[in-house]
Amino acid sequence: MTRPRVYLTRKLPEKPMEHLRKIFEVEMWKEMCPPPRKVLIEKIREADGLISLLTDKLDGELLHTTSTLKIIAQYAVGVDNIDLRVATDRGIYVTNTPNVLTETTADFTFALIMSIARRVVEADRYIREGKWKIGWHPTMLMGRDIHGSTLGIVGLGRIGSAVARRAKGFNMKILYFSKRRKPELEKELGVVYKDLDDLLMESDFITLHVPLTNETHHLIGERELGLMKETAFLINTSRGSVVDEKALYKALKNGDIAGAALDVWEHEPTPNDNPLLNLINVVASPHIASSSLETRTKMAEKVAENLEFFFKGKTPPDLVNKEVIKIKKPSKLI
Ligand code: GLV
Ligand code: GLV
Repeated sequence: MTRPRVYLTRKLPEKPMEHLRKIFEVEMWKEMCPPPRKVLIEKIREADGLISLLTDKLDGELLHTTSTLKIIAQYAVGVDNIDLRVATDRGIYVTNTPNVLTETTADFTFALIMSIARRVVEADRYIREGKWKIGWHPTMLMGRDIHGSTLGIVGLGRIGSAVARRAKGFNMKILYFSKRRKPELEKELGVVYKDLDDLLMESDFITLHVPLTNETHHLIGERELGLMKETAFLINTSRGSVVDEKALYKALKNGDIAGAALDVWEHEPTPNDNPLLNLINVVASPHIASSSLETRTKMAEKVAENLEFFFKGKTPPDLVNKEVIKIKKPSKLI
């Protein structure tokens, strides 16, 4: 039996790669940048499986160019770069990498909360730029307390819940907004449901953990930012387009809110001249919330596991478009 052909749009951690090569005919895009669309089209014309990243735009038009592709195993939890409807219609399975990155992403979310509240990045710059001239001073780089403050979590999924668990340790009051109310989690985590407007009005820190969909695009815009306290901070480790960046810039510039810590951007990489980067009350990072050695390795293992299940004729554990099962069975090729 010929081995299934898998195209990989970027190099993954080495160990899981070795495993993939044992089972599949693996071809890989070796550059650091994403493969051009032309290359992607050419490769998926012959591939049985595709390992994609969130930077690969797999829209309907592109998915219509392949008749061999059976599964897209995305190396991420978010799949907003993939047209799920077209994939499902064409019988293409889509999998992601949930769970393994939850705690790591929540850790980083907390790193951002603490950095923006306690001005960690600013303080580092302050010393390096030779500004520390007067020793200890009562009002030097004063920040805001995290403990005892109110945290508003928008989207209480796996990551949102993991952030709540950390916030409990900091003795924060925790509010959440979610599409559906989650009574069991309210009990387990001691979180209080609020509609979005109330959450925005009452929280000192607002952290976003929703997937990017048509409904959540610019969920936080001018009106919503206007509801936030002038002393409140916005933290985003979800997707950049959940926030209207232009409105955010205005709100920060006018002092309508106190600061923002952003790991994700409307356009990535965000251009150097993004005005948000000129604001001292913004902490910026380049979409790295899940980037720990442990987690990035586990994500690759997940990708391999999903492909292996599928090509053994079994439903992959992290199937996103579950309706596809009715359209096509997994392909038993190994
Ligand atoms: C990263 O943003 C992911 O979706 O895994
Ligand atoms: C993602 O893993 C989420 O459900 O928050």
